[in-house]
Amino acid sequence: MSTKTEPLIDISKVRADFPILSERPYGKRLIYLDSAATAQKPHAVIDAVGRYYSEANANVNRASHFLAAKATDAYETARSTVSCFINAPSVEEIVFTRGTTESINLVAQTFGRANLREGDEIVLSQMEHHANLVPWQLVAQERGAILKFVPIDERGDLCLDRLREMVGERTKIVSITHVSNVLGTINPVAEIVRLAHEAGAAVMLDGAQAVPHMSVDVSDLDCDFYAFSGHKLYGPTGIGVLYGKANLLDKMPPYQAGGDMITSVSFDSSSFKTGAHKFEAGTPNIAGAIGLAAAIDYLNSIGMDTVKAWDAQLLEHATELLSGLPGLRIFGTSKEKAGVISFALDCAHPHDIATILDREGIAIRAGHHCAQPLMGILKEPATARASFGIYNDFEDTEALAVGLRKVAEIFG
Ligand code: ALA
Repeated sequence: MSTKTEPLIDISKVRADFPILSERPYGKRLIYLDSAATAQKPHAVIDAVGRYYSEANANVNRASHFLAAKATDAYETARSTVSCFINAPSVEEIVFTRGTTESINLVAQTFGRANLREGDEIVLSQMEHHANLVPWQLVAQERGAILKFVPIDERGDLCLDRLREMVGERTKIVSITHVSNVLGTINPVAEIVRLAHEAGAAVMLDGAQAVPHMSVDVSDLDCDFYAFSGHKLYGPTGIGVLYGKANLLDKMPPYQAGGDMITSVSFDSSSFKTGAHKFEAGTPNIAGAIGLAAAIDYLNSIGMDTVKAWDAQLLEHATELLSGLPGLRIFGTSKEKAGVISFALDCAHPHDIATILDREGIAIRAGHHCAQPLMGILKEPATARASFGIYNDFEDTEALAVGLRKVAEIFG
């Protein structure tokens, strides 16, 4: 039975919302299959950013003039939009950052430095992006803590039994990706949070690759920290989110210091704001936050359940087409998977695959995907990766398969 079923989304309407899709690389239809690296932006986001600069530009939380009030209102409304989107109990638990990387560094450098002692353990997994590995290496080296890695099985699922054994009284934090940017695996994060909390450890989830594909409820997950980026969620670059439980944020020292995060400053010392604002020193990315809120409003107008269902349809269809290609191996075959397919062709290097596809107007990523240790586990120096967004359709998945046949003809 074909997996090409009636689209659950009004795909032509969605595609019309993304102006970049009318670009014609090398005179060809643009087939953008690199949304895991960064997603394209709908008119709604581009217009919201433009409107902010043309109608409301001013600094936030400082002056009391008309534009300052308008900008502050838009910025804080964006915080509230994010808070509702992930069902955080309070807007004060939503810290705006530059992106997932900064959110994880913030937790490592504040919560990590304050809580880790010699011999304490940080539990990560073998499938982590460098952003959820290197910050922990730095704090572990400084504090004398030990990093442990939950292994993956041949399908790319986390070995939960190993995680159960690994998490113990020395574990201070478990930091795991919600969705792997290489394997596409959707990790059982609710179960991971439960296991970690039983052992008394805090849990940070890297949601960069999860939020674009499914609805996320941090209250339901009960995680302590959740990080994601705006640009993978159809929003602007340079804006991201750290959700943190209020009782933890309150105990954490500031990350960066400067304007806006203080309540009073003398020559000798300062006192700090509480909640999210303690972590937002300096002028924030106001336009970015407003653009991110516009992206969330846009996704909500489609419905995250529809987004998830369409992602699953595309993934199933693409997996069927690619599995039929001789010499093609897919890395990551979990039953719980988001729209990311990493693969290799026996006859061609991933960078050659990407180059040939590019000339067909097809954008994929090739390389180690900022997950070099995982490449070691897969015993591949690099993979090719196609990743889907809401604007992809069956024509795109079919073009990918045709393009890969062409690669095989050239190199085979
Ligand atoms: N983390 C992004 C990716 O996986 C850049 O492509």
